[in-house]
Amino acid sequence: MMSGATDYPADLTFNWFQPTRLSFGNGAVKDAGIELKRLGVERAVIVTDTVLRGRTDVVARVEKALGARLAGVFDGVVADSPAEVIDRGAAHARALGADGLCSVGGGSSIDTAKGMAIVLTEGGSIRDHQGSQRLTRRQTPHLAIPTTAGTGSEVSMFAVVLDLANQQKMHFSDDRIIPDAAILDPALTVGMPRALTAATALDALTHAIEACQSIARNPVSDAAALHAIRLVTRWLPVVMSDGSDLVARGQLLLAANLAGQAFNGSGVGLVHAMAHVIGARHHLHHGTANAICLPHVMRFNADELAPQLAAIASAMGADVRGLTAQAAAAVAADRVAELIAQVGLPTRLRDAGVPEDDLAACADGSLSDGAIVYNGKFAADQDLVLAVYRAAF
Ligand SMILES: [Fe+2]
Repeated sequence: MMSGATDYPADLTFNWFQPTRLSFGNGAVKDAGIELKRLGVERAVIVTDTVLRGRTDVVARVEKALGARLAGVFDGVVADSPAEVIDRGAAHARALGADGLCSVGGGSSIDTAKGMAIVLTEGGSIRDHQGSQRLTRRQTPHLAIPTTAGTGSEVSMFAVVLDLANQQKMHFSDDRIIPDAAILDPALTVGMPRALTAATALDALTHAIEACQSIARNPVSDAAALHAIRLVTRWLPVVMSDGSDLVARGQLLLAANLAGQAFNGSGVGLVHAMAHVIGARHHLHHGTANAICLPHVMRFNADELAPQLAAIASAMGADVRGLTAQAAAAVAADRVAELIAQVGLPTRLRDAGVPEDDLAACADGSLSDGAIVYNGKFAADQDLVLAVYRAAF
């Protein structure tokens, strides 16, 4: 039996693979061409969306940085990376003779480029390649430039692709789709609206908190996750009061990155299993859905994962000395709930448009989400999940 957050079982085994070269700094986007050269890319396609391209100068700055290495721009990215868009993007890149990809945007742009990399290398449609650790060779080189601080997709092996024709989500997890390099430039995130800033930051915080409570947690993922929690706690309120604070924006970008590294290594849990279903059925932003469920899952986990939750409370700045692990775990959930209310996100499913009579169907859907098995406390039971949904309602 584990007695504390720094105790691990004697039979602990884990793998850690993190190949993404990171380049951080205000103005670091100017090095995009150099990063592609380092990857051996001669002609890269920028993968982005029309809003970033048409309403901000972000894409123009990346185009300038790519210089002679710019093959063209694919701006067809939409939310949730539909398979049709990935196939179209790959065809576009092939027609341009591109040998590399440069994604610019949030998780959907990065995931679309991950899918395009597979199609460009393996051929066919992205639909042909669904699965886990199936790729056997190096994929098309990919430089990721995130413009939100949330998904951590720039360092993860995961991509979620929407199959519109069959109304399904396809899941990809493969070490070979982890981007080869990422540029973390805080200046690219200052234009993010307040609501999106809060929601994406809560996605990052959820990654970190779930990584700490995962059955696959280990000292490396815990180190990354706990520091991500410290950074979100410290800097999210600053960004919410002054969105142009580049120091705070930069630390949030790094928090999202660290949280991405953490969950890439140890997985997420019940919060994501619940949020994925709410997102699919009620079109709630992923970060907002996570935020609503997060404190309630922490309370659900508290009896079995109190030491980990106590460590989370400490990372959030709470003085838990003298408290029992159970009391400290309650403090962690309360702190998270306070932060969510402070940044103005909804705190109840009912306030986010989820009807009470759909909760049972949501609970049913969560049971088939892969994340649920990584929750450190057993949760794969309809009654257990429904009780947490009810608490969040
Ligand atoms: Fe997430």
